[in-house]
Amino acid sequence: MGYYLPLTHPLLETVDVSITLSGLRILNEVSIGVPRGSVTGLIGPNGAGKTTVFNVISGFLKPDEGQVRVEGRRIRHVTPHRLTRLGISRTLQGVGLFPSLTSLENVMLGASDQLRSGVVADALAMPWTDARQRRVRDRAVEVMTEMSVLDVADRRPGELPYPIQKRVALARALVSDPKILLLDEPAGGISAGDMADLGALIKSWAPERTVLLVEHHMELVMDVCDLIWVLDAGSVISAGTPEHVRSDPAVLAAYLGEDAH
Ligand SMILES: Nc1ncnc2c1ncn2[C@@H]1O[C@H](COP(=O)(O)OP(=O)(O)O)[C@@H](O)[C@H]1O
Ligand SMILES: [Mg+2]
Repeated sequence: MGYYLPLTHPLLETVDVSITLSGLRILNEVSIGVPRGSVTGLIGPNGAGKTTVFNVISGFLKPDEGQVRVEGRRIRHVTPHRLTRLGISRTLQGVGLFPSLTSLENVMLGASDQLRSGVVADALAMPWTDARQRRVRDRAVEVMTEMSVLDVADRRPGELPYPIQKRVALARALVSDPKILLLDEPAGGISAGDMADLGALIKSWAPERTVLLVEHHMELVMDVCDLIWVLDAGSVISAGTPEHVRSDPAVLAAYLGEDAH
């Protein structure tokens, strides 16, 4: 049983989630909550299990024990379709765009139920009506404008600088107009200037969008998060305000020897 911080009516929560992969206990009774309208951080050293928590929430992995709840209701048998319906969207660690598609096509796929199956052919063979296609395209143009990437709409991800690819990936996550955004290391590989812009952007989404942010860059996490959960070796070891976790000896110990930026 790890550290727990009780919250009233979190929008999203994991309750005692445990998972074993390849014989290794990767998550150990992880209970974290995300208050509605908050930017909540999930931090911890490399290999702590942060991406695995996202994979459990988004149904990529089924926990051995425990539950994921949205608005207090258990969600199970999560399909990509169901996730979109629940208003949850995620970005993948790295970029995760389809290399053979243009930026616009990649962003449009964010509206597709098949996207997360990872099968491009399925996604492209979507039974879209012309009207739906137009609607999705208009919405894609809107979020690409918001992310300042409309000018690269016709380019493929591989032709674009890394920070621009990351913005296209964010646009893809936003196209379905999610109420909950799971961001997995959005600042990975970008410059300090881009990071400041990203921080401002994330803050601007609240409180309409609730954000769960996995991030290695402490500066960004401390700047944008209202609440932070700290994971180490698959267990929650601390939670609270940025000020609290920053000075928690358990957190400092977990990060010893880590380049936490
Ligand atoms: N499918 C898997 N099979 C076995 N081990 C895995 C699998 N996925 C992740 N792991 C291991 O689980 C641990 C946590 O991984 P991850 O959630 O990616 O950590 P983080 O995102 O915090 O860096 C790591 O030790 C990783 O090697
Ligand atoms: Mg990770």
